[in-house]
Amino acid sequence: RPWLKHDAQAGLLLDGVPLAAIADVVGTPTWVYSAATMRCRYRALATAMAEAGLDMQVHYAVKANDSRAVLAQFAAEGAGADVVSGGELLKARRAGIPASAIVYSGVGKSEQEMRLALSEDIGQINVESTEELEMLSALAGALGHTARVALRVNPDVDAGTNDKIATGRATDKFGIPYADAVALYARAASLPGVEPVGLATHIGSQILDLAPYRDAFARIAALVEALREHGLRVGTVDCGGGLGIGYRNEPTSSPAGLAAAMKGAFGGLDVRLIMEPGRWLVGPAGVLLASVVLVKQTRHEPFVVLDAAMNDLVRPAMYDAWHGIVPLSPVDAVTPVGPVTVVGPVCESGDTFARSRRLPPLAPNAHVAILDAGAYGVVMSSTYNARPLAAEAWVDDARWSVIRDRQPMEALWERERLPA
Ligand code: LLP
Repeated sequence: RPWLKHDAQAGLLLDGVPLAAIADVVGTPTWVYSAATMRCRYRALATAMAEAGLDMQVHYAVKANDSRAVLAQFAAEGAGADVVSGGELLKARRAGIPASAIVYSGVGKSEQEMRLALSEDIGQINVESTEELEMLSALAGALGHTARVALRVNPDVDAGTNDKIATGRATDKFGIPYADAVALYARAASLPGVEPVGLATHIGSQILDLAPYRDAFARIAALVEALREHGLRVGTVDCGGGLGIGYRNEPTSSPAGLAAAMKGAFGGLDVRLIMEPGRWLVGPAGVLLASVVLVKQTRHEPFVVLDAAMNDLVRPAMYDAWHGIVPLSPVDAVTPVGPVTVVGPVCESGDTFARSRRLPPLAPNAHVAILDAGAYGVVMSSTYNARPLAAEAWVDDARWSVIRDRQPMEALWERERLPA
C-alpha cells in the first residue's frame, strides 16, 4: 500500500496528507479515500485489458462505494457503472455516468425500477429469471420501449469465497440455471419489448484464485457457441466482478491474469466484453479513522474500545473479515505488543474488529486507521444504536476535503412521528 506511509513526525500519511490532521478537524469515525489510488487502479485494470487485446468496457460496481466523488472520478476516467437499484442508477447518472454506459443487475428489480431503467434508456439490463424477463417484456412493450437485455447465467461454479458472497452456485439465488439458458434466450428473442444482446455472469466476490473464473468463463463461452448454433445473436458478454484484494497481504490474482482468463475463453468469439469490478478498484484506497475511547483491562486480552463500530464497518461482524489496523500517531508506532481485542461500543459481541491482534500500546484518544475500508464500508453502514453515519473525506493532490458531512444527530429522528 504505497499510498500509506509512516512519517516520523506527522504519523501515518495518505498520499502525503497526515491522517491525524483529518481526524483532528473532522473528528472520528471518518472514512478517508485516496483519489489517486482509485484512479491508478482503474487505469491499471483498463490497461491490462487493453494489453490483452480485449474489447472491454469497465463498469464500476456502484454498490462497493457510491459516494458522489468516487462515481464522478470514475465517470471522468471513462468508466461505465453496474447498478443494482433505482437509487444507484440515479446516483450514477447524477455523477455524470452516461445512461448508455449503465448495466443493471439484481434478482428483484421492481416495476418502478424497471420503468426508471427504461425511461433512462440504460445500456443493458441483466435479467436473472424467466419471471423477470416476462415482467420486463410486458412493461417495455406497453411503454413502447425495447430494452437491451443480457441473460445472467448461473454457471454453477463454486468460487471458494465466503458463503455469504458466493453467487455462482446452482443453489444461490442469482442468475438463470445454465441448462435453461438457451431456451430462455430464444424466448427473449421472440418477446416484444426486449432484445437479447448477450450473456452475463458473476460468480461471487473477494475471489483470490483464477480457477473458478476460468471454469465459469469456459461454460459461458460454450453457451455463446450453442446460442449461435441456434441462430441467435450474441454480441456481449458481461464477465461480472469479484477480483479480490489482499486484506492480509495474502496472494491475489492480477488484472493481467484475469485478462488472460477472459482472453482464453472469449478471445476467438468476437464478443464485446464488460466487467463489473467494485472491491478491487476502491477497497485498498480507503481507510476508516477511529479514536480509542478506552482500554479495558481484563483477566484475558485487554479490549481496545474504539469510537467506530459494526454500524460503520460491518465486514468483520458479518463475514469474519480481517482488516489491518494501524495507529496514526508516530509515538504510537513502536514495536507491537499485545495481543489485544479491538472492539466498537455497540451492544453486541460481534462488534469486534480484531482479536488477538499485536498493536502498539494505545492510550485513550489515540487515533487508528482501519485499512482496506474503501469498498463495502460506508455503503453498508447503519445507524444501529442511534449512531449517526460517519463523515467522509477525500485526499487528492496532497490536499483533502470533506465529501460528506457527519450525519447530524437530529437526522436520527427528524422524519419520525408519533402515531395519529
Ligand atoms: N457484479 C455483481 C452482479 C455483483 O453482485 C457484485 C458484488 C459485483 C459485480 C462487484 O463485485 P466485487 O468486484 O466488488 O467483488 N458486501 C460484501 C461483498 C458483496 C458483493 C456483492 N456483489 C463484502 O463486504 O465483502
